[in-house]
Amino acid sequence: MKTLIQGATVVLPEGTAKTNVLIDGEKIVEIDPAAQITADEVIDATGLHLLPGVIDDQVHFRDPGLTHKEDLHTGSRACVKGGVTTFLEMPNTAPATISAERLAEKLALAATKCVVNYGFYIGATPENVEELKAASRTPGIKIFIGSSTGDLLVDDQDALERIFAETTLPITAHCEDETTVRRNTAELAGTSDVADHSRIRDHEAAIIATARAIDLAFRHDHRFHVLHVSTAAETNLIADHRELITAEACPHHLFFNVDDYARLGTLVQMNPSIKTVDDNRRLWRALLDGTIQVIATDHAPHTLAEKQVDYPKSPSGLPAVENSLALLLDQVHRGHCTIEQVVAWMCDAPARVWDLVNKGRIERGYDADLVLVDLNKTATIHNAEQETKSKWSPWDGETLTGWPVRTWVMGREVFRDGTIDDDARGKEAQFDHARGGFWKTRA
Ligand code: DOR
Repeated sequence: MKTLIQGATVVLPEGTAKTNVLIDGEKIVEIDPAAQITADEVIDATGLHLLPGVIDDQVHFRDPGLTHKEDLHTGSRACVKGGVTTFLEMPNTAPATISAERLAEKLALAATKCVVNYGFYIGATPENVEELKAASRTPGIKIFIGSSTGDLLVDDQDALERIFAETTLPITAHCEDETTVRRNTAELAGTSDVADHSRIRDHEAAIIATARAIDLAFRHDHRFHVLHVSTAAETNLIADHRELITAEACPHHLFFNVDDYARLGTLVQMNPSIKTVDDNRRLWRALLDGTIQVIATDHAPHTLAEKQVDYPKSPSGLPAVENSLALLLDQVHRGHCTIEQVVAWMCDAPARVWDLVNKGRIERGYDADLVLVDLNKTATIHNAEQETKSKWSPWDGETLTGWPVRTWVMGREVFRDGTIDDDARGKEAQFDHARGGFWKTRA
């Protein structure tokens, strides 16, 4: 089946241009403004922008184990509505993804449930270094250097040294210092004020753990990607180690700060915690100057009932995967960044950080993972309309300009104007770690 997308403004690696894109089967086969191409289906995309599908390199879809919050099917539906065509999911499910066997089980489950493409990290424990060394079919190793949802934690220095010394897959980590968090928790024992979450998981906790991970990566010359950077000071640390380190920012750390606890309470309780207005600004600056390369969501759904329990019993995490692209397109509308920068942060950079094969760009021979967006469409986020099983968004009531309207996954149109093709199935993402991602070109 050949599909011709005609007349869109297309964000290509070499620049943005009005051109025609031909899909044949699962691939992009032609990009040509002039060619007289015959196709089975011709789509008039005049007035719209065509982007590579978004790659979200940090989501939590709770499957297996906590599927009352989300599952691979509902999570992937939320993805396709939001223009996300590939997700990379974290290992803190129940059971946790800490072995080749568990990884294979999750991949098999995803093949039956996901309407978009998928990949799964392998989680580190103090004892599973042999599993980490042998693992394949994964973007890389996730370490919880500080604990968060679930029971994964590697805080022991010898265990961390071993993981960085003996493994070769790229490593990424949740960086909040366990000792600092425990000390602050003891000092604020008895609190029920959610604003204390940012005093417990404070700036120091994030900075100490990120510095510790960067030191490990540097000494062992190991590829390392910092997840969900939340402080200005971490951006300075990362900038000082650009040759080795890549980093990610999340919409909630860009758009929310401690002032939002008064309005949103535990809905914006996240790990790492949200920080200050100054941190918001500095994270933006780090994105704009290339210190941070990736935007991903850390989509971490819990039910509204769970979230509305009094702090500190309320769980940390918020859903975001179906609104992240719109949140960023709205920033384009407001003149804060360009559409090319959004594509770099959400499509191209995650593909390169994780060595994804044939993804992240609109290029001949690449997978036909595509999203058509309408930069002039204005719509309001409503909890009731969310695809995530958790059925809420911290951005409920927010009006944004710039929305995905049609999404193709491996050449098949899976989302169109509010309708999702539930019979579609995405593919397992392929990783070619010999490429060395950003790291190789920087070292
Ligand atoms: O707030 C968070 N929730 N941060 C994480 O890193 C994990 C996540 C979850 O899985 O709920």
